Amino acid sequence: MKYANNILETIGNTPLVKINQITKELPCTVLAKVEYFNPGSSCKDRMALKMVEDAEKDGRLVPGGTIIEGTSGNTGMGLALAAVIKGYKLICVITDKQSKEKMDILRAVGAKVVVCPTDVEPTDPRSYYSVSKRLAEETPNGWYVNQYDNPSNAQANYEQTGPEIWEQTEGKVTHFIVGVGTGGTISGVGKYLKEKNSNVKIWGVDTYGSVFKKYKETGIFDENEVYSYVTEGIGEDILPENVDFDIIDGFTKVTDKDAAVYTRRLALEEGLFVGMSSGSAIKGLLQLKDEFGPDDVVVVLFHDSGSRYVGKIFNDDWMRDRGYLEEEVKTAIDLIQEHVDKPLLTVRTEELAAHAIDRMRRFKISQIPVMDITGFVGSLDESDLFQAFLEDRNVADKPVREIMGKPYPIVKASASIEEVSKLITKDNQAVLVELENGKYHIITKHDIINSIK
Ligand SMILES: Cc1ncc(COP(=O)(O)O)c(C=O)c1O
Repeated sequence: MKYANNILETIGNTPLVKINQITKELPCTVLAKVEYFNPGSSCKDRMALKMVEDAEKDGRLVPGGTIIEGTSGNTGMGLALAAVIKGYKLICVITDKQSKEKMDILRAVGAKVVVCPTDVEPTDPRSYYSVSKRLAEETPNGWYVNQYDNPSNAQANYEQTGPEIWEQTEGKVTHFIVGVGTGGTISGVGKYLKEKNSNVKIWGVDTYGSVFKKYKETGIFDENEVYSYVTEGIGEDILPENVDFDIIDGFTKVTDKDAAVYTRRLALEEGLFVGMSSGSAIKGLLQLKDEFGPDDVVVVLFHDSGSRYVGKIFNDDWMRDRGYLEEEVKTAIDLIQEHVDKPLLTVRTEELAAHAIDRMRRFKISQIPVMDITGFVGSLDESDLFQAFLEDRNVADKPVREIMGKPYPIVKASASIEEVSKLITKDNQAVLVELENGKYHIITKHDIINSIK
């Protein structure tokens, strides 16, 4: 019989898969080390088990003890598998930026999850670094893993991922490209490959909002480089000991939008359903295209699976809200897609101004069309109301008819954006669009601004 004695024995030996479509303009061979084939669906299973085993060996982790870690999810999953099989308790301290799926998955494998705010300094007592350390001190037989500075992290990749890549490429690998978080993957794999062949180039992929690239290039830890970003797993606001800057030849930064768009492309064009840092990694590789020649074998590592991001990158609403969807906005109807299903708010000529003001306040709108039985006959906007109020303090008791402005121009649903934009001026705050069902909707300056991505 051929079987593993427990799930931990299935870690590693992940496949190397050729990338064909996305990189077809490049002269070199591009191979992806697809780490979602690990049982916890990420590369982090390797280092999690190694950190636990090393801590067992030197007594930092005692039988029945509690493993405590600040983890963005994947390391937590690896630790959870080790904890289940080896009989430890696990507390994962996670930031509120992480997807809900990741938290639910950790709970499913028995971890207790503590959520901390993202936008605080690492030294702040609420930060996940500080909370993890404090919990480790307060918990009897608690062991704080600290994947950032724990040398077993890079060592696991030195002992496993590096040799696998070397053997799978029969020593032909010329470049290794990977997203950098704790640095364990790049430093461990990089060290192994450079020991085998010092000409192998090691490139890190960083995010905007992280300190790595500038630090590598200038030696300056620039706090101005730190701001919040969306990509999970890579980039840092600290310098983890696991990042060995001497082994890394350079960094390239990838935007959140590009990371999201390329993650989707990997699924659609290569059948690789991977997480967001893999989108960053492949986009980073494309940004480095001038580095590669026809004989080069470029290996990129994809850390985890797309299944943890279904509510995010693989959700159209989440992508649209952030302006990541490459949707073409061409006509009037495209401008109002987000609110076309809501009814058009109007006021009647004989209603009091007070009613119009109340409706505008309640629905948080700055302008409203005015109707009578013949159709649209006027408009009210904030500036009309303000002017009327300056002229007469009792304006609220007047009928709308007496204070309204000109009716908004009406365009067809197929009108071009240019046509609509020209109609919106200082004196005319909105345009009405006639829908195919005979109803009308409103396009405001806000809708036009929103369409500019
Ligand atoms: C999804 C994902 N990508 C990339 C990384 C970065 O890997 P490393 O910490 O080895 O630098 C991580 C690590 O947390 C991760 O979870």
